[in-house]
Amino acid sequence: MFDVHLIIVMIVALVCCIVHGVGNMQKTYGEGDDSFQAAGGEEGIRKLVQEFYRQMALLPEAEAIFTMHNSDLDTTIDKLARFLCGWLGGPKLFSEKYGSIRIPVAHRHLAIGPDERDAWLLCMEKALESQPFDEDFKRYLLEQLFVPAERSRNQD
Ligand code: HEM
Repeated sequence: MFDVHLIIVMIVALVCCIVHGVGNMQKTYGEGDDSFQAAGGEEGIRKLVQEFYRQMALLPEAEAIFTMHNSDLDTTIDKLARFLCGWLGGPKLFSEKYGSIRIPVAHRHLAIGPDERDAWLLCMEKALESQPFDEDFKRYLLEQLFVPAERSRNQD
């Protein structure tokens, strides 16, 4: 005969696993290089940024922000990928090659309002959809990216 308490504990544990997701129970992002690793390191981040700019070139909502860009997209892709490596807790690859950067300052010559910010985040959301990251990490990353996107906004 099973102990009724044991059965209750097992049912509670099962419900917890279903509600929180078994694999997510111990996951943390944003500590050390956890996020950099969750994004697949430099290689994973470069793929994400490639897809991000592919989406920007395709999405009608992103037409205005795409046309703000330099024609040398390879350099832009390299810059964003390197920046994200450091921002996600990995190696500081941006400053290694391009020097120091402050995101609001880097964007102050551009007219960025809520529409431009949201278009940028939409490109990132679409790019994340096709990456082999955990779904909870995708949500986490998009939420975190709202912060520098909002800090890049310089118009109402
Ligand atoms: C809010 C909407 C944003 C818009 C419309 C935007 C647009 C741009 C544009 C047009 C450039 C210049 C690229 C070129 O010359 O080809 C740029 C550069 C850059 N952006 Fe953004 N961006 C936004 C948000 C962000 C965010 C959230 C990040 C980081 C998480 C970021 C990181 C960078 C970096 C690292 C550069 C390179 C800066 C440099 O050359 O010094 N941007 N952005």
